[in-house]
Amino acid sequence: MRAVVVTEPGGPEQLTIAEVPDVTAGPGELLVRVVAAGVNRADLLQRQGHYPPPPGISDVIGLEVSGRVEAIGEGVTGWAVGDDVVALLAGGGYAELAVVPAGQCCRPPSGVDLVTAAGLLEVAATVVSNLQRVGYTDGESFLVHGGAGGIGAFAIQYVSARGGRVLTTAGTAEKLDQCRALGADVAIDYHADWAAAVQEATGGRGVDVLLDNMGAKYLEANVASLAYRGRLIVIGMQGGRKGTLDLSALLSKNALVTATSLRFSPLERKAEVVGMVAAEVWPMYEAGRIQLPTETRFAFEDVRASHEWLESGSASGKAVLVV
Ligand SMILES: NC(=O)c1ccc[n+]([C@@H]2O[C@H](COP(=O)([O-])OP(=O)(O)OC[C@H]3O[C@@H](n4cnc5c(N)ncnc54)[C@H](OP(=O)(O)O)[C@@H]3O)[C@@H](O)[C@H]2O)c1
Repeated sequence: MRAVVVTEPGGPEQLTIAEVPDVTAGPGELLVRVVAAGVNRADLLQRQGHYPPPPGISDVIGLEVSGRVEAIGEGVTGWAVGDDVVALLAGGGYAELAVVPAGQCCRPPSGVDLVTAAGLLEVAATVVSNLQRVGYTDGESFLVHGGAGGIGAFAIQYVSARGGRVLTTAGTAEKLDQCRALGADVAIDYHADWAAAVQEATGGRGVDVLLDNMGAKYLEANVASLAYRGRLIVIGMQGGRKGTLDLSALLSKNALVTATSLRFSPLERKAEVVGMVAAEVWPMYEAGRIQLPTETRFAFEDVRASHEWLESGSASGKAVLVV
């Protein structure tokens, strides 16, 4: 099969398409003939050598795919060869064939074409699992950084649909407008004093739940932006790994700080999360309660361009690689 390989950690120029041995489905797994693969920020980090796959997982980049079932491993029920499928992977997505534990697979939402479906699962799974993790309840206020990105655009719509007031940040006037169009109640330029703007927009109360992509750089301001019993979830470290946490600020608010990784979660948890997305989020797309992401498609051969696009800073919405 053909797959994208990284010749040496580095820039997009290190991505090349090569012939590699076919993968096969083991017990409990599905073999998927890939139609398209979602391109995620984590893929850029893996290409640079900063985010290696968990032990035993393919070193081919790619955390989500859509496609058709090519073969069914021992013990797997409920699937037939040829079925449309979307899958959450720990690696191996940028390839013609991918092998996935069956629990991490589900049907795509009905009425959505398979290429578009390739870019839906990773962001939905991340947002839904994290909100469940911190016990988000309908109507609570919410802040997501980077509202025009893949995670942010979904999170704005999902929490709005659950009745929450949504605050978000973005880097340009155009992206702030996109966030408002997605349903954000308050959109703040992150180049300005966004934490002061959060205080102002919430009457000094702060937000109940904050989903953060920046890590160290925003830790202090994020904690300051939490309401009493607020919860901060760090899912990205775009602003560094090591920050200073003022415990007294947490203590006085009875607040919670956590950091999570979907990729490094055990199989059972990923299966649970994929099940939640299929049961809760797919009907939202099908009923038009949330919009499909704006999507930029790249041919398999243009994989370098897909990474350049995501790195450029001008990207918004979701990138998919058409295999
Ligand atoms: N832990 C997990 O399980 C998990 C799973 C999925 C994703 N993630 C992480 O979640 C983050 C978002 O993922 P994604 O797929 O949405 O990536 P993406 O589409 O590339 O979006 C990145 C976002 O970062 C924003 N950003 C850049 N500088 C910022 C700043 N100074 N302050 C606030 N926001 C800033 C960008 O905003 P502008 O475009 O407006 O500049 C953009 O919206 C990434 O760090 C990714 O690694 C983690």
